[in-house]
Amino acid sequence: MTKQLANVPPMGWNSWNTFYNHINDELIRSTADAMVEKGFLEAGYEYLIIDDCWSLRERDENGNLVPDPEKFPYGMKAVADYVHEKGLKFGMYSCCGVRTCGDYPGSFEHEFQDAALFASWGVDYLKYDNCHRPNSQTSEMLYRRMSMALRSTGRDILFAACQWGTENVQQWIRSTGAHTFRSTIDVQDSWNSIEMIARSRIDDPYPTGNGCFNDMDMLVVGMNGQGLNPETSILGGISGCTAEEYQTHFVLWAMLNSPLIIGCDIRNVSEEAKNLLTNKDIIALNQDTECRSCYKLTSYANPDIFVLVKPLSNNDYGIGFFNFSDTAFHVPLYFWDIGMTVSEGSTLELYDCLDHKWIGKKKEKYIPLVPSHGCKVFRGTVKVR
Ligand code: GLA
Repeated sequence: MTKQLANVPPMGWNSWNTFYNHINDELIRSTADAMVEKGFLEAGYEYLIIDDCWSLRERDENGNLVPDPEKFPYGMKAVADYVHEKGLKFGMYSCCGVRTCGDYPGSFEHEFQDAALFASWGVDYLKYDNCHRPNSQTSEMLYRRMSMALRSTGRDILFAACQWGTENVQQWIRSTGAHTFRSTIDVQDSWNSIEMIARSRIDDPYPTGNGCFNDMDMLVVGMNGQGLNPETSILGGISGCTAEEYQTHFVLWAMLNSPLIIGCDIRNVSEEAKNLLTNKDIIALNQDTECRSCYKLTSYANPDIFVLVKPLSNNDYGIGFFNFSDTAFHVPLYFWDIGMTVSEGSTLELYDCLDHKWIGKKKEKYIPLVPSHGCKVFRGTVKVR
């Protein structure tokens, strides 16, 4: 009997955003060290995931995937063992097509063989991409198949379907057995990319919750334009985001129940980015065991100014005030709009999750000034007189 995975959104680190194909044994081991030493594991980031470009370009004579011996001279089991010794879980990557997105062998028609190989190495998480899929094959069928293959190994392997939001994935993904599903194109280290992904899932929310979470892609917090991936780095013309924008990105991904998978080089992470990524009050909104979706309140019919409200398991509410416009804005919340009556004397007590302090009991409304591309986020407790 295997245990139920993804009771709350998975948290971890993934090599792709920053390191692209520049991955190797030393990088993974030193990142594992940093995840522990810098407090990321303690904050909840438990999966260390190697993305695309880890194998040789072809399978061996037995049809097995082979870790590139130049990148991983001791093989993948040795990497997994090191990661496990640190108290972390180990994640890998494959693809439902004949080739991966980076043009390495995909798992199509090798699903059960690959799943058994991953299990023998001690893999705990599989990111499963959607490139180079024969036209005759639906991703629904192929995700079902890999889910079956992983389950048949008898090992608890979290199945992260990287589906990009096509073919109405939100309608069928849960039934494939996948634990997370990418619902957007790849994130980039820019505010435009963050805004585009956030708006798509706020304006068209996909089902997300215990056992199967909507994945808005990795976090770019702390990258500061330093990635080696031409699509996410300064080399590709992406200069990173402001501190305010990274903060808004992190709060949005947390409130919308996305997996929190760090994409920066945490070995060299700035104090500012580390403090944000390990903010326990924001993480608590994401890891809340009821895993409820947010609802959105808009004002002045202005799509750039909105409030997200997320019911939490202890009767509190996560309340985020967001401003996507180019100037500072007073973003209003009228308490009637979250269900309160006011004439009965109820109040809303607010705890600021970014400043870590209670700001007192509010009556009728709260209208903070929110900087451009910024946010304010609170845990709210309703006090009924
Ligand atoms: C796709 C995925 C990315 C990454 C790359 C690897 O683009 O969406 O997250 O895994 O493939 O090639």
